[in-house]
Amino acid sequence: MGKKVKILGFAGSLRKGSYNRALLKAATQLVPEGAELEVFELDGFPGFSEDMEKEPPKKVKDFKAKIRAADAILIATPEYNYSIPGVLKNAIDWASRPYGDNAWEGKPVAMMGASIGMLGTGRAQYHLRQCCVFLNMYPLNRPEVMVPYAQEHIDASGKVTDQKALDKVSELLVALVAWTRKLQATA
Ligand code: FNR
Repeated sequence: MGKKVKILGFAGSLRKGSYNRALLKAATQLVPEGAELEVFELDGFPGFSEDMEKEPPKKVKDFKAKIRAADAILIATPEYNYSIPGVLKNAIDWASRPYGDNAWEGKPVAMMGASIGMLGTGRAQYHLRQCCVFLNMYPLNRPEVMVPYAQEHIDASGKVTDQKALDKVSELLVALVAWTRKLQATA
């Protein structure tokens, strides 16, 4: 077994009772051997402005440093109006700038999501995959982890009660670690 794979995870919701933050919390308990998962909270980012990108706030500097120190990224995204929430896009944009200083460059990334709708963030995840193209990230293709009707699978205390969802998150983490090692081996 080589060096531990360091995963940085964050959820695109600031909601206290967020299903996506709950899913990410569950992931911290399911990390496979040979990997570790640190969670970063997206609260406190100002709205992105190019006027500020050369002198970003400390929160942004910290975020970019954590991304750079990570071997892989795990994103739990809600779906807002068939896309990713502004909070998540804003954080992604901050860390991609200024031009030439994109912290996401070459990072393997896995995504998952929970929504109260029937498609479980599928549409948002496909928008997120589109962002990965310009960011030059390497998204994991499979498994796709989309938790529909989240209110039936995550309880009020934030516990994921659906074993199938937990199994999918485990599978995702195992696949992300393998994907990361594969990319590292070819680097
Ligand atoms: C939503 N929600 C939602 N759900 C969905 O399945 N498809 C959608 O397009 C939307 N659109 C949407 C827009 C906005 C502005 C809000 C606030 C909500 C519902 C969404 O799935 C639900 O609020 C989740 O609980 C959000 O995720 P967190 O905060 O629980 O992680």
